[in-house]
Amino acid sequence: MVSCQAWYHGHFTAHRHLAAEEDLDLVLFVGDYIYEYGITGSNLWRQGAEVSAAHAVEVETLEQYRLRYALFKSDPHLQAVHARVPAIAVWDDHEVQNNYQGARSAYGLPDELFAHRIAVAYRAYYENMPLDAAALPEGPATDITAGIDVGSLARLTLLDSRQFRDPEPASAEEQQAEDRSILGAEQEEWADQRLVQSPATWNLLANGVVLTPISEDRTDMWDGYPAARRRLLQAMAEAGNAVMLTGDIHKHVAAELRADAADPDAQTIGVELVCTSVASDGDGAVTDGYTEDWTRHPYVKHYDAAAATSTCA
Ligand SMILES: [Fe+2]
Repeated sequence: MVSCQAWYHGHFTAHRHLAAEEDLDLVLFVGDYIYEYGITGSNLWRQGAEVSAAHAVEVETLEQYRLRYALFKSDPHLQAVHARVPAIAVWDDHEVQNNYQGARSAYGLPDELFAHRIAVAYRAYYENMPLDAAALPEGPATDITAGIDVGSLARLTLLDSRQFRDPEPASAEEQQAEDRSILGAEQEEWADQRLVQSPATWNLLANGVVLTPISEDRTDMWDGYPAARRRLLQAMAEAGNAVMLTGDIHKHVAAELRADAADPDAQTIGVELVCTSVASDGDGAVTDGYTEDWTRHPYVKHYDAAAATSTCA
């Protein structure tokens, strides 16, 4: 699985490795397949790369989103991965705009303007990513959720943790509210049913943001939606052998999921595996300013902030 491939931050050496070295059946993209930021001299770290001035501004129109997929997909190593194995994908925020929350922009864009932005971003996503006909966008709405069963071995559930989320909480009380949701009621119900009725040995879920409790300040992740997390963990516990697959944070993390994170004796009901960035934020390092924040939790078993990229080809 891969995520966070900011083309301009480095070469896709991770994809070169995937295409040439790994024994693959499929590749799972867990968000930030593209980035919407303007690409200028200051963030173009990919050595030897040149980009057209058309990419210098933040992506807003359908033409610009299409151009962004074209740029990212021009990478020969990403092309090699796509040529070699089937791909499945969920999105995160940068397929539209950084940290957006449901119908709301994190940058104060009027909702009406942002609805148009979402509509064109989803349209370009649909045109460029492996989705079935059910995902055909209708205005600012696209259903990317999907269930894939691999015999009785694995049940994979693809979640949308962006489109239906409640906005940033205005208070701690609102953050804790029982009816607050990151998936929205309908998707929660669907995911819940898939989990509790699963006949599979392994129950895999994929989504854009980290499920493991780290800090209440991280409101963009499941930490911003504790009641919804309790509900999902309950369903994961009932399903058994549950694994959440996640990207977003540009670090490798392996964590045990517990029904009650505050209770050190609580039973582990599943695990979360987070993959680092293909390129976003450059090479990184094994430890970083967030290491302590994560590893202070006994259920975080592995933390590595190095990316998979190299700025040189
Ligand atoms: Fe990212």
